[in-house]
Amino acid sequence: MIVPTKKLFAHAYGKYALGAYNINNSEQIMGLFRGCIDSKAPFIIQISKGARGYTDKRMLEAMIRAAADIFPDAVFAVHLDHGDEQTCYECIESGFYSSVMIDASHDPFEENVAATKRVVTAAHAKGISVEAELGMLGGVEEDIAVDEKNANLTDPEEAKDFVAQSGCDSLACAIGTSHGAYKFAGGQGIHFDRVKAIQDLLPGVPLVMHGSSSVPQEEVERINAAGGTLKGAKGVDANQYLPAAKLGVCKVNIDTDGRLVWTRVHREFFKEKTAEFDLRPPGKIFMAEYAKFIASRNVLLGSAGQLDDVREFVKAT
Ligand code: G3H
Ligand code: 13P
Ligand code: ZN
Repeated sequence: MIVPTKKLFAHAYGKYALGAYNINNSEQIMGLFRGCIDSKAPFIIQISKGARGYTDKRMLEAMIRAAADIFPDAVFAVHLDHGDEQTCYECIESGFYSSVMIDASHDPFEENVAATKRVVTAAHAKGISVEAELGMLGGVEEDIAVDEKNANLTDPEEAKDFVAQSGCDSLACAIGTSHGAYKFAGGQGIHFDRVKAIQDLLPGVPLVMHGSSSVPQEEVERINAAGGTLKGAKGVDANQYLPAAKLGVCKVNIDTDGRLVWTRVHREFFKEKTAEFDLRPPGKIFMAEYAKFIASRNVLLGSAGQLDDVREFVKAT
């Protein structure tokens, strides 16, 4: 059942976080749904602009609708990840999405507010909610000075003004994470003091954590043992998802970890079975392994076990 993102947030706020998982193909979709059903978790399926162009956006939409039929107990929202303004309008018009993200965080504050406001007007007219971003997510590197590092994090006062002026429904904040497999060169992690300061000024506003993959070291080692060269890959401590959720982080974006599972399965399979050329045997292993991975993340996010309760909540509100 596809539900409004804002209802999932209302149920989760301050208690647990929803896993927001990126998908590109049918194997990821099947593994994701299976893992969420097995762990009895609501979730957000998210589609990036790159994913929309990989096969065809209509293919992804059709596969997600099919998955909703195959797994009738699933409760989930469909979200556009890192949209530009035009893609947001396309998704709003399509009628398929529960929420869109307008990512104008690279623009000056006033332009970010203006673009977000335009998207909010179009989205709210159709009952769709909007995630916006403030701060520089990828800009927090180990080798820059502390002052400079903190300057890249989302400023709480600015965040308050931004939400008030733009009317966005949820806010992606720069709190120390970054996208991809190489997040931290040293002992960095989530800046909890910053999350708390933002929540204090924006009580009740769902916060979003991008760049949340944990980059499991066992995956990295297995990939490298099977011919990969992912040296020094490092991610977020997955035991910090739940403490972040208690501070208002309702949505935790995970993409890279799924790519690592895919890479490990396929590298190991073809290293071992050098004469194999059927795509289905490794595809089957991947779906099962991805389902296991998703279920394990949902436990750490606190979303595992919420499915029946959230279904009742969505119907009642
Ligand atoms: O934050 C970006 C997501 O990991 C999606 O990546 O744009 O390569 O699909 P993508
Ligand atoms: P990761 O690269 O840490 O998986 O982050 C994904 C993300 O933020 C998608 O928007
Ligand atoms: Zn992101």
